[in-house]
Amino acid sequence: MPTYQADLTTTQAPFVEDAHREGRLFIEQPYELYSEGNHEAWRRLYARMLPRWERYANPAFRKGITNLCLDPQAVPRLEDVNRFLCPLTGFQAKPVSGYVPAFVFFDCLRNREFPTTITIRDAGRLDYLPEPDIFHDVAGHVPMHTDRAFAETLVRFGECAHTAVDLVEGIHDAKRRSHAMTSIVRAMARFFWFTVEFGLMRCAGEVKVYGSGLLSSFGEIQHAVESADVQRYPLQLEWVVNQAFEIDHYQPLLFSVESFDQLYEFVHELEQWVKAGKLNNVAPGEPTVNERDLESFLQRSKRGL
Ligand SMILES: [Fe+2]
Repeated sequence: MPTYQADLTTTQAPFVEDAHREGRLFIEQPYELYSEGNHEAWRRLYARMLPRWERYANPAFRKGITNLCLDPQAVPRLEDVNRFLCPLTGFQAKPVSGYVPAFVFFDCLRNREFPTTITIRDAGRLDYLPEPDIFHDVAGHVPMHTDRAFAETLVRFGECAHTAVDLVEGIHDAKRRSHAMTSIVRAMARFFWFTVEFGLMRCAGEVKVYGSGLLSSFGEIQHAVESADVQRYPLQLEWVVNQAFEIDHYQPLLFSVESFDQLYEFVHELEQWVKAGKLNNVAPGEPTVNERDLESFLQRSKRGL
């Protein structure tokens, strides 16, 4: 390995940029490359989120934070995280160098692996970050993976991606197959967004947060629960799969579930809809399904997965 200067700041980390350029998606976490500034970013992010988690996060997340024994003072070692996580649900955090094409991502979930970014945002810009970082992935997502029902939901989601490929393989016309695949990927991305990333839960009459995009955002977690500008509705599958979203501002529309068992049932129903061809033509709009995402699905059978 070439010698790298210690720095794993998002978009400025030569170790990660090199891996990305060389096409190495799954990588190691070179822990010695975290700089003091990287640890400082983690410390500040963690310290300011803690009281917000206590106030707004659902109980499974709070229990997960305790069970993972995350160090508030330093960027976590994924090996340590996995030592606590794996015995609980079989999940593990798997370091990646960048964007994971959609099918590969869902297939990882099916195998109880969570693609995890190792870089961290700049300590001077804690708020806005278009890319995921290790704070979003490990402090926002991974604590949820300690919950059995939630973990099973993610696995089911991964299975749903395989069901989607099975369905479109039966469509012989290439144009129709591509249209159906794009539509299903869009529907799955919308469902994932409004649940795993931005989901709310109603617990004993109170609104709590379980979506990781909210759990890792100092400003939006409070906004999601308290602002009169947010519409909050019980999750309806036919709505969510047709609902466009934009990623660059606070979400004006959020959906709630009552439990992770209910969320699991929704994913089961989503899979039934895939099988029945009901998602082959959902409403157009965001998110855009890029070529790499589409290809990752259409190439599955060639990779023999
Ligand atoms: Fe995320």
